[in-house]
Amino acid sequence: MSEISAVGVIGAGTMGSGIAHVFARAGFAVALCDVEQRFLDRALAQIRTNLEREAAKGKLPPTEIEPALARITTTLDCESLSGGEFPPQFVIEAASERFELKAGLFRALDRVMPPGAILATNTSSISITRLAAQTGRPGQVVGMHFFNPVPVMALVEVVRGLATSDASVAAVRELALKLGKTPIEVNDAPGFVSNRVLMPLINEAAFAVMEGVATAEAVDQVFRLGMAHPMGPLTLADLIGLDVCVDIMRVLQEGFGDPKYSPCPLLVRMVDAGWLGRKSGRGFYAY
Ligand code: CAA
Repeated sequence: MSEISAVGVIGAGTMGSGIAHVFARAGFAVALCDVEQRFLDRALAQIRTNLEREAAKGKLPPTEIEPALARITTTLDCESLSGGEFPPQFVIEAASERFELKAGLFRALDRVMPPGAILATNTSSISITRLAAQTGRPGQVVGMHFFNPVPVMALVEVVRGLATSDASVAAVRELALKLGKTPIEVNDAPGFVSNRVLMPLINEAAFAVMEGVATAEAVDQVFRLGMAHPMGPLTLADLIGLDVCVDIMRVLQEGFGDPKYSPCPLLVRMVDAGWLGRKSGRGFYAY
């Protein structure tokens, strides 16, 4: 396929805005799409703040900030993506972690995007194979899983569904390298590698707090000081979002059919209370 120079990003939340940031910083034209203008406005403000932070740290020439922002266009109509000035040859979906929502988006993208375009998903646990089956181009559906904060974390987990073609995997690997990331290829399985291992750790840390084994602070210190993790598992859970953690545990539970993946009741109660972590101002810690 021709070289990719324009990309579409569906979803302007934390991950979608981080993904738009790194593509725009690397010189790609980016069309960022969400369903409400306030989400797009918030994402652009966040991207500006993070580009300025990078410039202040000497990681980006300050003269690159405005050109990077100018490469991002926004739209409320994802189906109009293919009619833009630079129709994207690559679209990555970063919507909420719900299968039905993503499946609907993949069906729509398959309808409107040119036949050669690759449809990627930033899902953190949902089956690439199932999403690919929603489209008439399963060979061109691939997982491209970024990590939060996207501008900082070096990894892209490249997930190969059952039908994903070698060419699609190679194209996504190349894109990741152009973004300055390291692609690691894994096969499609619940939670892939990252969340199959990380989420049970976070879940178990929540059990330790629920059962009164230790405070959240103590659990986190064990991992920071004993295992040199940059942040403890509960601080990380707050960063990821406790709702996202519970959703991923449910995907693991359903996918493996093993009760060991049941979400910790404390996590579920906190989500019910609206304590979602950093984004809601309260999780294991207050923000
Ligand atoms: N954009 C750009 N730069 C950012 C940034 C952002 N959003 N957030 C932080 N940074 C930069 C800072 O400017 C700083 O740069 P320098 O090193 O040049 O000074 C650097 O990142 C470190 O930031 P801070 O000094 O502010 O804070 P820190 O040292 O405590 O590091 C952290 C923050 C990078 C988040 C670090 O604590 C860390 O790596 N934590 C673990 C994060 C992690 O595990 N993420 C994966 C979550 S799992 C996931 O996302 C996938 C999933 O499917 C659930």
